Formats: sequence, structure tokens, C-alpha cells
Amino acid sequence: MIIRPEIIEDIKSRNDIETVISSYVRLKRAGSNLNGLCPFHSEKTPSFTVFPATQSFYCFGCGAGGDVITFVMRTENVDYVTAVRILAERSGITIPDENVSSYSKGVSRQRILDMNREAAKFFHAALLDEKTGAEARRYLLDERKLSMAVVNHFGLGYAPNSFGAVHDHLKKAGFTDEEMITGFLCGKSNNGTVYDYFRNRVIFPIIDVSGNVVAFGGRVMDNSLPKYLNTSDTPAFKKSKNLFALNFAKDKCADMLILCEGYMDVIALHAAGFEFAVATLGTAITQEQARIFSRYTKKVVISYDSDEAGQRAADKAFKYLQEVGLDVKILKMNGAKDPDEYIKKFGSEKFAGLLDDSKSRFQFEIEKILSKYDIANTDEKVKASYEICKILSTFTSEVERDVYAHKVSEILKIPKQSILKDVERIMRKKNSDAKKNFRNEIYRNTSGFADRVNPESVSNMKACRTEEAILGLMQLKAELLKKAVSELTADDFVTSFNKKVFEKISEAYKEYGKFDIAFISDSFSVDETSRVTKMLVTRERLDNNGEEIMSELIKSLKEEKSNENTGSIDDILDIISRKKQED
Ligand code: CTP
Ligand code: MN
Repeated sequence: MIIRPEIIEDIKSRNDIETVISSYVRLKRAGSNLNGLCPFHSEKTPSFTVFPATQSFYCFGCGAGGDVITFVMRTENVDYVTAVRILAERSGITIPDENVSSYSKGVSRQRILDMNREAAKFFHAALLDEKTGAEARRYLLDERKLSMAVVNHFGLGYAPNSFGAVHDHLKKAGFTDEEMITGFLCGKSNNGTVYDYFRNRVIFPIIDVSGNVVAFGGRVMDNSLPKYLNTSDTPAFKKSKNLFALNFAKDKCADMLILCEGYMDVIALHAAGFEFAVATLGTAITQEQARIFSRYTKKVVISYDSDEAGQRAADKAFKYLQEVGLDVKILKMNGAKDPDEYIKKFGSEKFAGLLDDSKSRFQFEIEKILSKYDIANTDEKVKASYEICKILSTFTSEVERDVYAHKVSEILKIPKQSILKDVERIMRKKNSDAKKNFRNEIYRNTSGFADRVNPESVSNMKACRTEEAILGLMQLKAELLKKAVSELTADDFVTSFNKKVFEKISEAYKEYGKFDIAFISDSFSVDETSRVTKMLVTRERLDNNGEEIMSELIKSLKEEKSNENTGSIDDILDIISRKKQED
């Protein structure tokens, strides 16, 4: 690669794809993604889609796709390096010479991190100071019932009731006004005076997974407003990409993560032994954060406040987390407004009990449906039953379908067999639709729309689909990337285009420990990059993107390689319908 990966990443993180593309295309929100009229071909109905979660775009009409860099390459008709330079300039970054190891324009990330560390030490010392910190200690230890051990573990602090204490301290430590203002530790008034941003508040440092102090949250100690002040985005921090306490939770969360609303909830949970709890930073969960969850765990229990606002937020979080393939449950609390209060009132064993019977996706959806319909009314009961059967039809396991059909039959007072029959009918219909669509696609592929990017795909359709699914999953999830790189070699690939894609992704992974399309797009043409992105967005639109699917695809590709070119159309249809059912 010509430009160092950390610079590429920085440039991409400051050039949010939605913002950049919005200055060229009018985008409209459609669910979690955005649609607009494609700038690369002429159309009347929008098939151009932007996927904020993966920071990619794809046009389902003409097949153009990629990341923010390839978008600029296409729209400005420039090469890779020029596109990167345009984006760098747009966000105020200077790309250094090869041999310069750090870059700076304005205030660098490293300076902010150093300054934050110094400030965190200052806040903590102020809390421990006999006189200055007395009121804050009373608040945290007596009123919020934290132990000194917990206060130290989280590095909690206190911002003195003064307009200049932080400023003076940081100045002595060698930091400039510009750095303090950029890092949101100080503000600048109209008459030019620089003043402390956090005053008379208890301080929660936000620490990233590498141990850097990236930001702060500050809470008042009474009922005044605003209750919290938080660091806004800085060169060292993007709110939508961080989670509070993930630095502690990351090693304890292989089984599950608990998502709560507040800093205090997280702290109370950790203190009670649930060290796999995190919170978003004062905003609703973003798709980027949902993706972070999927990198660290398989299951998330949402434990939001029990009030209406909390439950509405839980609904949205549920959706985002499910979209990235996680097993998501929602915890219901009675008798307390949030986990912090619950644990104080009822103890940690009771909370562990709640975790155990937190609602599964199915129960949650069923309750939603049941609350919409009056099942005493026959017509409405039929509608409710149909909606429930539709959900049941997405379950791959027969046992699971059977168990839930039983529950539903009890609730709706409809025989279980009738429910299962309806479910099967819906499944059959979905299957035949899938076959029809697939036949059409084969027809399109064989009737002149030859595949220029991967010409071998037409004669190796089955293998090619497996390959594309694997390459899509490798881009979607770090753990699947790791799995594929360790279990496959380039020689397992049948078509040479996909083989090259695999090689490039593996090389990037081996060198940088991760993957970003920008690490490899200078090795491909824009059309080729579009195809690589298509593989990603195709997977992103499916629910089931777990380990098992990857294992199966790997197995299937190895089999495919051993009997290259012998797959019949019927085989293909068979595999696809099986896949569709799984998905
Ligand atoms: N929050 C914020 N700004 C506010 C209010 C809330 O950033 N003005 C964020 C904080 O991250 C807070 C979370 O939203 O932790 C949840 O808010 P809330 O439930 O009001 O606060 P708690 O942290 O639960 O505080 P407490 O239990 O002390 O009332
Ligand atoms: Mn709360």
C-alpha cells in the first residue's frame, strides 16, 4: 500500500460516508440505510444505497460500489492516491512523507491523549484532596454508595468549582490553549478568555480499548441542569465509535455484553460482579457501535431504564444489534428505574436472575404483535397468528419451531398443528420465490449479461456464490475474517478473481491485523472494487452471519474445489434454497 493504513483509517474516520456522499447526492433515510438516485447511471427510482454501518455504498441498479475513497475516485474521476488526498484535505489532515512517522496539522491525536491523561490524573487527585474533593466524595461514596476501590478502578474524579483550575494545571504541564480547546477541556468566551469546561462536577473518564483516556463525562451532584456534560468529538474521540467501560468489559464478554444507558448503571454492575456491562455515551446506540458489539461478543442483553423513553430506545437498539447478527435479549425490570437502582434495592443475585430470563427475540416480537391486536376478536386473532407464523418461518431449527408453536397455541388457543401447517406454507412459498428469483438471475447471467469482472463465475456459479459469501463475511466481521484466513488458502478458491480478492484481504490481515477495503482498493479497478463491496453489502442485508455459516461455507468451498465444474443447476438451486432457509 502506498499510504500508511493508520492514515487511511484516520482519513476515513473523519470523512463519514453519509456526509461526503450527501454533498453529491440527495439521500433519504430508508431504515438503517440511505437511498438516492445513483450518480453513476441514469435512473428514476433510487437504487443507490449508502450503508453507514459498514461505511460503504452500493448501487443495486448499475453495480457501482465501494467506500468513501472509491466514491471520490468515481465522482471526481481520479486515481486512488488523489482521492485519498482530496479527502485528507477536506478533513484537514496532511499526508506525511513516507519516512515521517507522525503527522500534525492543528492539534494531533497524540497531544490530546497526553493532555487527557494529565487531566484525568488532575481530576482524580482533586477528588482525593481532603478539602477540594470533600463534597464529591460524599456524593460518590455516601449518596451513590460506591466503594473507594470502585472509584479508583474507574479513575473517577472531580472537576473543582473554578473557571481556571484545569487550565492552569494543563498550562503548567506544557499544553497550549489551542490544545485545551480542541480537546474540549476548555472553552473560549466571546471576549477571548479561556475557561474550564467541566466545573464542580464528578468526572467519568472514558477510556478506549487500548487504554487511552479519550474523553470525559461530568455529572452535577444535585438536580441542576444539564445533568451531564460530555466531551464532543475531537481528533482523538468519536462518540459514536466508543463505548463506556469496554476497556474493562472486553476481556470478560465472550459470552455476553450488557448494554445500559448510564455511566452509573455500568459502574454499579461492574461493582456487583457483572464486569461485562457497557454504555453508549449519552446518545442512542449507533450502527457503528452495534458493529463494535459484534466484534466482541455473540449475545447482548439490553438493560435500559424501565421508563417509556428507555423502552423505546431499547427497541431501536434491539434492531441495530440484531442487524449485525447478534443474539439480542431485552431485560425487564420491575420496581426500579434502572440497573443501578435495581441492584441497590434487590441485590446482584436477583439481577443475575433477570439476565437469565431476559426475553428472546421471539418472545419480544410476539409481545409486540399481541399488543397490536385484540385476540378476543376472531379477525384480529387470525391476523396476529399470521404475523407470528411469519416470524416462526424464519427459524431454521424444527425443534425450535415446534417449541414456540406450542407456546403460541396456548396463548392464541389455536391447535399447534394448525400453526405449524401455516408456518410450513409460508416456508414453502418463500422457497419457491427464492427459486424463481434465482432462475431469473441465471437467465440474466447466461443471456448476454456476461460477467466482465469475474468471467469464470458463469461456469462455476455454485463455487462463485460460496466464494462471494465467504469474502463478504470476511469483510463484515473480524472474527470471521480471522477464521477464514486461518482455515482457507488461496488455492481453495475456484475462480481467479475471487482468489485474488482472498489473497489481498489475507495479506492486509496478516500485515495490519484487520481489514478495510481501502487497504486493497489500489490493487483493483473501480469495477472490481464494486464487486468486492457487493459481496459485503449482500451479507450485510442478511441476518444470519455467524460462525456456523462460515464453517459451512468453508466446507462447501473445499468440496466444490475437489469436484470443480460439475455442479448442475439443480444442485445450485438446492444449495440456494437451503441457504435462503438458513438466512
Ligand atoms: N446523558 C447525557 N447528558 C444528559 C443526560 C444524560 O449525556 N444531559 C447520558 C449520560 O451518559 C448518562 C446517560 O445518558 O449516563 C443516562 O442518563 P440518565 O439515566 O439520566 O443518567 P444516569 O447515568 O442514570 O444518572 P443517575 O443514575 O445518576 O441519575
Ligand atoms: Mn439512569
